[in-house]
Order: sequence, then C-alpha cells, then structure tokens
Amino acid sequence: MERSLVLVKPDAMQRGLAGVIISRLERRGLKIVAIKMLQMDKALAQRHYAIHQGKAFFNDLVEFITSSPIITAVFEGEKAVEAIRQTMGETDPAKASPGTIRGDFGLDIGHNLVHGSDSTENAEKEISLFFSPEEILSYAKEIDNCMKDLK
Ligand code: RTP
Ligand code: MG
Repeated sequence: MERSLVLVKPDAMQRGLAGVIISRLERRGLKIVAIKMLQMDKALAQRHYAIHQGKAFFNDLVEFITSSPIITAVFEGEKAVEAIRQTMGETDPAKASPGTIRGDFGLDIGHNLVHGSDSTENAEKEISLFFSPEEILSYAKEIDNCMKDLK
C-alpha cells in the first residue's frame, strides 16, 4: 500500500487548522500510520527541502518551516501520494481550486498550510527523515473488510 508524508505547516498550526487538515485527509479514506508533533531545525528543513536549494525562495522556506512546531504524519492508502496532492490543491493557494485545503484556507504561496510528498520515491525519503521504521504502525480497519466484500 502506498504511503506519503504530510506536514501540517507552521501557519496551519498558528491558525488552528491542524484538525481540519488531518480530518480532510482521513475523510478522503487515507489511514494515519504514524504521527507526531515537533519543531524542525534548520538542518532537517534543509534536508527535507534539499531539492529547492539555490532557489530564490529557499531561505524564506527554511525560516518559515522552522518557525513553529508542526505536525508530521504518514498517511497510507491506494494512490496516497496523488490523492493527498489533489486534496491539498495547487502550490499557490490563489490558484488552488475551492474544495481543496489550500483553495479553501490559503492565499499566500509562502504560507500554504500543508506539505505532501510529490512522488512515491520522495515519500520514502521524506518519511525516513521523520520516522524510524518502528514508529510506523500497521493495523487493519474494519471498513477495509467491508469494502473488500463490496467489490
Ligand atoms: P510542499 O513541497 O511544501 O508540499 O509544496 P509543493 O510541493 O506544492 O511546492 P514545491 O514546488 O515543492 O515548493 C515548496 C514550497 O516552497 C514555497 N514556494 N514558494 N515564492 C515562490 O515562488 C515559491 N515557490 C514555492 C511554497 O511554500 C511551497 O510549498
Ligand atoms: Mg514539494
């Protein structure tokens, strides 16, 4: 089953939107298999966003993501990476569709509330930055059996 890393970013924490963001992903049908609260330090932020090193917004991005505690979680589900990206909406909230997290709650590209991995390869790399294998739990949900019976 596919997994993806989600970060509830500092702006969402400050605005009291952590619950609604996690809830929307759960309601999409994705399963939380790991979750914790932490404050990223500069070194972790630079590794997590290494792909953007050298870009004009990189320093602001690192400063922002380290500015307050965040919630980090691993969500699991069919096509989890794509489903989460779609539920988050476009990077620039001003262009994100209504009904998405960014489209409903954001306006500013530098403060876009939520991170989701952009590929399965990056998801595995990002998950390993935040969680040890023992912290990722495997469990069944009754609903999964019900849904299987309906197929
Ligand atoms: P994220 O990695 O945070 O989930 O966001 P994303 O995939 O939708 O966007 P990405 O291209 O990976 O960019 C990472 C974060 O950098 C900030 N950004 N600012 N000012 C700009 O032009 C600009 N472009 C990107 C955004 O906050 C974005 O989430
Ligand atoms: Mg990204």
